[in-house]
Amino acid sequence: MKIALFPGDGIGPEVVASAVETLNRLDDKYSLGVETETGLVGGCAYDATGNPLPDSSLELAKKADAILLGAVGGPKWESLDYSVRPERALLGLRAELDLFANLRPAKIYPALINASSLRPEIVSGIDILVIRELVGGIYFGQPKGVEKLDDGTERGVNTLVYTTPEIERIAKVAFESARKRGGKVCSIDKANVLESTELWRRVVTEVHKDYSDVELSHMYVDNCAMQLVRNPKQFDVIVTTNLFGDILSDEAAMLTGSIGMLPSASLAGAKGMYEPVHGSAPDITGQDKANPIATILSAAMMLRYTFGKEDAANDIETAVEKILDEGYRTADIHSEGTKLVGCKEMGERINGAI
Ligand code: IPM
Ligand code: MG
Repeated sequence: MKIALFPGDGIGPEVVASAVETLNRLDDKYSLGVETETGLVGGCAYDATGNPLPDSSLELAKKADAILLGAVGGPKWESLDYSVRPERALLGLRAELDLFANLRPAKIYPALINASSLRPEIVSGIDILVIRELVGGIYFGQPKGVEKLDDGTERGVNTLVYTTPEIERIAKVAFESARKRGGKVCSIDKANVLESTELWRRVVTEVHKDYSDVELSHMYVDNCAMQLVRNPKQFDVIVTTNLFGDILSDEAAMLTGSIGMLPSASLAGAKGMYEPVHGSAPDITGQDKANPIATILSAAMMLRYTFGKEDAANDIETAVEKILDEGYRTADIHSEGTKLVGCKEMGERINGAI
């Protein structure tokens, strides 16, 4: 198992360190043959080389079976030109490796129901998988940019473009995923206004003909944003465009109480990049306050999706639940009556439970 590690910026190195311990623990248990190599991406890579995604890191990513990434970005790099912002590294990896299917599960842990900002009866039992198209749409469409006009004002452009094959392949991932879960797909678009998403709706409907055992519904994105806070349990798999998926996955994440809990996978077939949904959290960097669970659960997704090691993945998920049930909490999910621990201790406890 060749795994490229990109700890990145902010709390990235802390949470990746915990997840690597977890992988090592499972390597001992199942003789997985884990081989890791670490590279620089993001702000730290820009500082070291002037490029947020240096060629050496891209090469490392290309030859790996899977990538584990912490987080990129921070206030230090916010005034840089777009072309060298830490976020470019993420977008570059996604595009270069064609990681078109982004899986973001939003599942609530019974122990954390009170951490949600919504009432317990609304959120208990939530188990949503947001599938976001990750290498197309308005993030990458041409033309794009900001141009100066003759009258001295400026014009900013981004283009929302999708082609039939791009929609087909993500729709297939959604239907295949639904088969292994609740059997329902809700496709999100803005087909009443945006032509490219009218095409999206048509193509998803067409692909559905091969998956008649799966239930398909369509919803406009504004309604979906509302339904997610009104009655989130109606959703099983949500499939949507790059930008809508960016927004709705944050919303779905927050239903579960903490974005610090949620893993993600970005896949091109079996090859994948795995990362926590949260960002680099500069406000708590280096203080041992981060929640490593999202990254540890990302390692579980890696074992499942890239390496097909269901047992090892289940071990991680069971251990996380056990430690939460025992009352251990990092600061982001801590409440009265629970035991506050740091990033390191949380990781150690989970690994101990494995
Ligand atoms: C995400 C993030 C990224 C995105 C940023 C950091 C480029 O918000 O992964 O959801 O917009 O895709
Ligand atoms: Mg986002």
